[in-house]
Order: sequence, then structure tokens, then C-alpha cells
Amino acid sequence: MKKILCISGSLRPTSTNTNILKVIPRLGTWPDTSFSLYEGLDKLPYFSPELDGEGATPAPTVADLRAQLKAADAVIVCTPEYAFGVPGVLKNALDWIVSSGEFVHKPTAVISASPMMTGGDKANASLVQTLKVMTATITEEQILTIPTVRTKIDAEGNVVDEGLKANLIKIVNSLVNTGVE
Ligand SMILES: Cc1cc2nc3c(=O)[nH]c(=O)nc-3n(C[C@H](O)[C@H](O)[C@H](O)COP(=O)(O)O)c2cc1C
Repeated sequence: MKKILCISGSLRPTSTNTNILKVIPRLGTWPDTSFSLYEGLDKLPYFSPELDGEGATPAPTVADLRAQLKAADAVIVCTPEYAFGVPGVLKNALDWIVSSGEFVHKPTAVISASPMMTGGDKANASLVQTLKVMTATITEEQILTIPTVRTKIDAEGNVVDEGLKANLIKIVNSLVNTGVE
């Protein structure tokens, strides 16, 4: 079984970014592939190196995030952009992974969705940079910005834009084919 872990950068219950992650498994048929949504972003403590150094035992929520990432064959991150940057809750989670290394060589897709024309491009670029410095494996076809997202998803959370649907399918195909043995 190939495992894909999905992480949303939004804590909103009706988040468009989380909806996209929830809808992805229904867009295609990927045999022997499972998708799970990480739901602990708001339970993580604020990162500090002192909480993670020698002799320190990281919180159970941090251990859980690391375990979920370690068990995953690939990761999809889908995030909004806040004030031209990556949401603090998501960056906080990534900071916990820098020294533990679960992103090393991990096939990872980076998606940003926004109601604006820019599609959250600055948060997307920043996130790619952060994940690449953690040596995640990110190819060009695994990077996607989604502009004017509210015209592409209906009230039930279905993707109603064929171009977006195709791009999301392409991302999963790419993760399944390149990264997962
Ligand atoms: C504090 C704040 C700052 C925001 N800054 C940006 C921004 O810089 N760029 C952008 O495209 N959208 C920005 N937005 C709009 C978000 O893209 C929009 O609220 C989006 O729907 C959030 O994603 P979600 O539906 O997954 O929660 C901002 C929203 C908030 C609340």
C-alpha cells in the first residue's frame, strides 16, 4: 500500500485548501494507494530548538507528526497565503521537521489556492524553498498555484474546473510514479 499524507495550511473548518485535499482521492483511480489528512496542525507546540535538543523529549503531537510523515511515501501540502507568506501554523509544523529529517528525499507536492489572481504564488514559492532546504524531492510538475479558486470549487466542495481537475490528477500520478516504490 502506497501512503500519501495530505497537509493543509488552513485551520478553517470550511477551508478551500482542505477541501481540495479531501477531494483529490475521488478524482482518479490509484490502486493500492491510500490518502490520509493530517489533522494535528493546531495541536503542535510552538517550535523552539530547546524543546527538541539533546535530552529533550518532544511533545506527543510532534512525535505523531513525525511518525505520520515517516510512514508516508509521499506528501501533498495545500495551503493558503497569508500576508504574502506561508501561514504560521504550517511553518511551525515544518520547523519541527528540520532536524528530525522526515522530509529528506520525500516526494512532495506543493499546492497553494487563493481567491485572488495570484494563486498564493509567494507562499507557494516560499514553501518550496523551505521544503527543498529540507531536501524534499519536488519536481516542477508537483508545484501548483490555483488562482480564483472559488470559481473552481462548488458549494459541496467538488472541483468544477476541468483544468484544475487535470492538474490535480497529474500531481498524484507524478507522486505515485516517481516517488513510491
Ligand atoms: C489574514 C489574512 C491574510 C491573507 N493574505 C492573503 C495573501 O497574502 N494572498 C492571498 O492570495 N490571499 C490572502 N488571504 C485570503 C486567503 O487566500 C483566503 O481567505 C483563502 O480562502 C484562505 O484559504 P482557506 O479557504 O483554505 O482557509 C488572506 C486572508 C487572511 C485572513
